[in-house]
Amino acid sequence: MKVLVVGGGGREHALCWKISQSPKVSEIFCAPGNAGISEIARCVEIKASDISGLVDLARREKIDLTVVGPEDPLTRGLADAMEAQGLRVFGPRAGAAAIEGSKLLAKEIMARYGIPTARYAAFDSPGEAERYIRGLNAPCVVKADGLAAGKGVIVAGSTEEALAAVRLIMIERAFGSAGDTVVVEELLEGEEVSILAFTDGETVVPMLPAQDHKQVYDGDRGPNTGGMGAYAPAPVGAGEVYSLALEKILKPTVRALAAEGRPYRGVLYTGLMVTENGPMVLEFNARFGDPEAQPLLMLLKSDLVEIMVAVVEGGLDRVKVEWNPGAAVCVVLASGGYPGEYRKGFEIHGLDGVPPGVTVFHAGTGLKDGRVVTAGGRVLGVTAAAEDIPSAIGLAYSGVAAVSFEGMHYRRDIGLKAVAGGGETGLPQRP
Ligand code: AMP
Ligand code: GLY
Repeated sequence: MKVLVVGGGGREHALCWKISQSPKVSEIFCAPGNAGISEIARCVEIKASDISGLVDLARREKIDLTVVGPEDPLTRGLADAMEAQGLRVFGPRAGAAAIEGSKLLAKEIMARYGIPTARYAAFDSPGEAERYIRGLNAPCVVKADGLAAGKGVIVAGSTEEALAAVRLIMIERAFGSAGDTVVVEELLEGEEVSILAFTDGETVVPMLPAQDHKQVYDGDRGPNTGGMGAYAPAPVGAGEVYSLALEKILKPTVRALAAEGRPYRGVLYTGLMVTENGPMVLEFNARFGDPEAQPLLMLLKSDLVEIMVAVVEGGLDRVKVEWNPGAAVCVVLASGGYPGEYRKGFEIHGLDGVPPGVTVFHAGTGLKDGRVVTAGGRVLGVTAAAEDIPSAIGLAYSGVAAVSFEGMHYRRDIGLKAVAGGGETGLPQRP
């Protein structure tokens, strides 16, 4: 089979890495890819947002399966466009990907089908949003309705902060038309977990629970990023939380989307808050998480391509999805200044010097005069699997120690929430 992976970040490197292990696969293309991906796939200079360019490529190269990494092309109809040409694609059509593309739509569907989530109200005028927020007189969360590269959510500790968020989104239009509507939500308290599932629209197969680290600094401080590291399996998402997430959230959501005329095929990602009242939905994504994909795919034992084909064709119930024992940890190495402004083009040293068992997934990297250089905010995801979380943490950080580039920074507490004592995060000890 010829497989095309769309995207060029750490998630896509992990996808290419796992797909390359499938005996079914003869050749991998990636558009646009990055320096690390170019070692295992043929990178083609087509942007992930270039729908017609991607369809042309898939037709020209007779691609058997296209795997879409990021949300933007999915919400803009890449899967629809591929299917219209008779091409097989892993990822939901636009109508189903809208569960990520519109936070209001996601809330409406959850309300209609009784899926646990925070109470909310939605507004398309700043004045009304302001009146509502003043009436709340409590902390809340203000969200731009549309896609905003993970930056459109503001957790407001006070009425003033919430009003400032409405101004930023609706008046300054910091996220453009994504801010035509705002959703104002009740603030949920608890620990977050990401539970992703494969689904063909009927059968739902959850992956191991994973945990992202969104804030830039140790101890969950500082501004949000795309994700500074992740690990799996996350104990906070195990046991009853896992079964509640499957029975009360994932399965009902897939059924609801089908009932709404938005049949969902692909990976459904749920960002959950584990509250006193059980897991509640913070967000849906229509794809693998980045960096959650890196540890998850490292732990996946089964053939990913076999699973993906079953998702696309229907028949996921006939495929075994198995996981390796142990745990995996991914530590993201970022450019100096990220998630604010940063410079690119610094040479990356030590990539060949990581210890055995460590895989360095490239995110924002490029090639300059035959050298690997930084080319984005999140640059690398140093990932390792081992028999348990503490060993995986140790191994991943031994890999981090081998790599360097000017301005490099990273969190030193990835995975520690899962370790007794909570490490440097200062979190209470888990029972
Ligand atoms: P989202 O993109 O909707 O997941 O929001 C990004 C981040 O904002 C989440 O990972 C949470 O940390 C936080 N967040 C979103 N909604 C809520 C909520 N209702 N209560 C508390 N935190 C939230
Ligand atoms: N890691 C969060 C996301 O991919 O949206």
